[in-house]
Amino acid sequence: MYFVSSLLVAALAGLAQAQSVTPSGFTPSARSKLDVFFNSTMVMTPGQVLSKAETASQPKIAVSSTMANMSATYMFVMLDLDVPPEEGSTKRRVLLHAMNTGFKATQQKISGSATLLASTEKGPAAYISPGPPPTDTIPHRYVQLLFQQPADLSVQASDFKDTSARINFDLNAFMTKNKVSAPIAGNFFMVDGRASATAKGTASASGSGGLAGSTVQPFTGAAEKFGISTGMAGLFSGLALLAI
Ligand SMILES: *[C@@H]1O[C@H](CO)[C@@H](O)[C@H](O)[C@H]1NC(C)=O
Ligand SMILES: *[C@@H]1O[C@H](CO)[C@@H](O)[C@H](O)[C@H]1NC(C)=O
Repeated sequence: MYFVSSLLVAALAGLAQAQSVTPSGFTPSARSKLDVFFNSTMVMTPGQVLSKAETASQPKIAVSSTMANMSATYMFVMLDLDVPPEEGSTKRRVLLHAMNTGFKATQQKISGSATLLASTEKGPAAYISPGPPPTDTIPHRYVQLLFQQPADLSVQASDFKDTSARINFDLNAFMTKNKVSAPIAGNFFMVDGRASATAKGTASASGSGGLAGSTVQPFTGAAEKFGISTGMAGLFSGLALLAI
């Protein structure tokens, strides 16, 4: 038994290595797993379903200690790949949920083998918590990517102050323009906004209850939580219309 289960563990570990940790067909893809931790949960398996409540605050991130470069600066990016199409289109859109620069490896280890990364910077694009609409037909995929940040990267919060700069965000074009290399690690999770999906876990706390039918409230909450200035209120109300 013991022998068989160790073999299974080894086989699963091998599989995890060989598989992409980003959604099938998504570019830029990543092969090394970025550890993504929320307050009460973490993304154990790429693609796992989490609730809105669990993902309400910006996650902490870590990489395997063998990969962490103490002298490098990293940038974290999170995208929703499944924003409902614009009227008259069937093509789902990408929304930039977060772009955070200035991450450095810390001395702090998570579960013995991962090095926590930390940044004092909130932007340039502050975290927007997932809020897929109850009326949607599919769960949304949220991709997290870690990049080495070029020394001369020049991005400002003002670049992302309008909804238009976050919706249809073209990461590949951004990488080319700013000479950002392929991601060094990635991960993704899904959030199912449909009321029928909220029976599970903590999703019921914010999913099927008072918020159903309203996508405005979660954004207001997020804005308050992160002390986002009133200057960003316009961004949040714009996003509410997009049903992210
Ligand atoms: C997560 O923890 C932070 C800091 O302790 C807190 O401000 C935030 O409200 C928490 N978020 C959730 C969803 O529990
Ligand atoms: C670590 O990061 C520094 C600064 O970006 C870079 O010069 C160096 O080549 C990196 N080392 C490795 C092993 O990738």
